[in-house]
Amino acid sequence: MPDLSKITCIEDLRRIAQRRVPRMFYDYADSGSWTEGTYRENERAFQKIKFRQRVAMNMEGRSTRSTMIGQEVAMPVALAPVGMTGMQHPDGEILAARAAKAFGIPFTLSTMSICSLEDVAEATELHPFWFQLYVTRDRDFMHRLIERAKAANCSALQITLDLQILGQRHKDIKNGLSTPPKPTLTNLIDLATKLRWCWHMLGTRHRTFGNIVGHAKNVSDTHSLASWTAEQFDPTLDWNAVEQIKRLWGGKLVLKGIMDPQDARRAVDSGADALIVSNHGGRQLDGAPATIDTLPSIVEAVDKRIEVWLDSGIRSGQDVLKARALGARGTLIGRSYIYGLGAYGQAGVTRALELIHKELDLTMAFCGRTQIDAVDQSILLPGTEPLSRSNP
Ligand code: GLV
Repeated sequence: MPDLSKITCIEDLRRIAQRRVPRMFYDYADSGSWTEGTYRENERAFQKIKFRQRVAMNMEGRSTRSTMIGQEVAMPVALAPVGMTGMQHPDGEILAARAAKAFGIPFTLSTMSICSLEDVAEATELHPFWFQLYVTRDRDFMHRLIERAKAANCSALQITLDLQILGQRHKDIKNGLSTPPKPTLTNLIDLATKLRWCWHMLGTRHRTFGNIVGHAKNVSDTHSLASWTAEQFDPTLDWNAVEQIKRLWGGKLVLKGIMDPQDARRAVDSGADALIVSNHGGRQLDGAPATIDTLPSIVEAVDKRIEVWLDSGIRSGQDVLKARALGARGTLIGRSYIYGLGAYGQAGVTRALELIHKELDLTMAFCGRTQIDAVDQSILLPGTEPLSRSNP
């Protein structure tokens, strides 16, 4: 086990991941679409919100334990679905799922994962995890995917609503992103500096999209996320499709990618259990606002009828606390754990979770609260928090 005690923030993990992960996969994670304005704004917007420091209040007996759609969580944080996690570190989805299980928080597997639903279920001994679904034109394939998620003991389904077409990420095009990487001169030179990654990769059989290859028909290129998306994702996805999937699935349902109060009200009407305020980590509509700035209008529109969660831009436990104060029952982290994974495998994911937990716990105490479930907007300095825009 590496000694990670000197790793003190997610930024430390990011820097190490950048050195260890092949460039095309590091860039895939650390990028947004077009100008990357929304990607950067997600983080910047958190920084503008300030806490109210309180003193001489008993700080003993603190707890960050809470629930997300009825599931107990050690802190209100889940691992977000991230495509190609198994390329950040060989067997990445299995390692991240194990770290989440040990920490007591949910793991979400992406449709575009490298390790399959069955691989993760087996490696975590059928410990429940969540599955993120992309709606595909090939409905047979999608129905089978839903059945496979049930068989893998998945306890919630997240439908991603903001990626029926792919936002343009310049770096992925320039790097010729594919999985596994093609043996071009540029890639070979890069891989020669990432020998640890190559060594681990030789030790696994999980090197391509595990949920797709061998399960989907008529796929012309199974190595490229961009061409699979363009060919297979269903651009006609609408609220009727959401309701059909809800019936097929029959379990807890979460809708991911809501950024507008009108859509939030539709999400409530669809009977989902939670929605995620998300701009896909700034990877889809560049120019969309930061999620933390959007959260208050969504919370107001939903009016407690379903749970509101938030992702995009969370790099610390302080960000989790700010989201919670503004009405998000839960949060999801993507890059924050992906950097840990790329840097140190499972131990790196665990370290990322420890860091976030400690920041959350200490900050909550500095704000004069001992129970995460007692945190509300009054821990924030008035005038620094985003306000609800009037509802259209
Ligand atoms: C897929 O979810 C992506 O953002 O690339």
